[in-house]
Amino acid sequence: VTNDPDAIAITNEKLISYLSKDAVESYVGSSLNGFLEFCQNMINEGHQFIVLKPLDLYQGIGVEKLDLNSDLEMVFKERTKQFGGAIVVQPYLKAVESGEVRSVYFKGKHLGSILKTPKKGEFISNIAHGASYQSYQLTKDEEELCRKDAELLDGEGLPWVAFDLLGGKIQEMNITCPGLLVEVSKANGKNLAYDLIDLLD
Ligand SMILES: Nc1ncnc2c1ncn2[C@@H]1O[C@H](COP(=O)(O)OP(=O)(O)O)[C@@H](O)[C@H]1O
Ligand SMILES: [Mg+2]
Repeated sequence: VTNDPDAIAITNEKLISYLSKDAVESYVGSSLNGFLEFCQNMINEGHQFIVLKPLDLYQGIGVEKLDLNSDLEMVFKERTKQFGGAIVVQPYLKAVESGEVRSVYFKGKHLGSILKTPKKGEFISNIAHGASYQSYQLTKDEEELCRKDAELLDGEGLPWVAFDLLGGKIQEMNITCPGLLVEVSKANGKNLAYDLIDLLD
């Protein structure tokens, strides 16, 4: 156990990503009016699709892409009922089709990164959902963004974090059980568990 259980208990992996100075534009809530207003903004910005997701699930479970021309009210009512309240709504970021970055940090230090590419015709880039992966070199901006947030989380008792980035923005901060150390190690040809252990007090 490296992350402080108290810090995990008060931290939601979806909500904490809004700490990032460059988080994905979102609606989080259960108000139908708030949701419809957000959808109208999305349409005005030229988006055709949105993504709905539960606040507290994982591995792509319950994540849904929705056409802004569909019966938004009906779907929103169903999902808030199904997930017991507030859900997350975001524009569909097309960048996902060429891959989502998983970047793993310990105590503010970068251990390694991969690019997870969804199966053809799909947008869920969780490896548990069949996405492929390869080693990935963070851009300078991505590296700086992640390092700052990793240092911030380290200060909150959360040294081990795994960021998911889409189009250069952090869309999820995994802190409860940050996965894929094995895959990031494999892709980078190095057992990163040793690097992590070296950094332990
Ligand atoms: N706004 C978005 N636009 C496009 N794809 C998205 C968006 N949000 C999530 N996804 C896709 O759905 C997957 C799962 O969403 P995520 O928020 O990471 O939840 P989970 O906790 O289930 O992994 C992501 O890995 C990505 O492939
Ligand atoms: Mg995720």
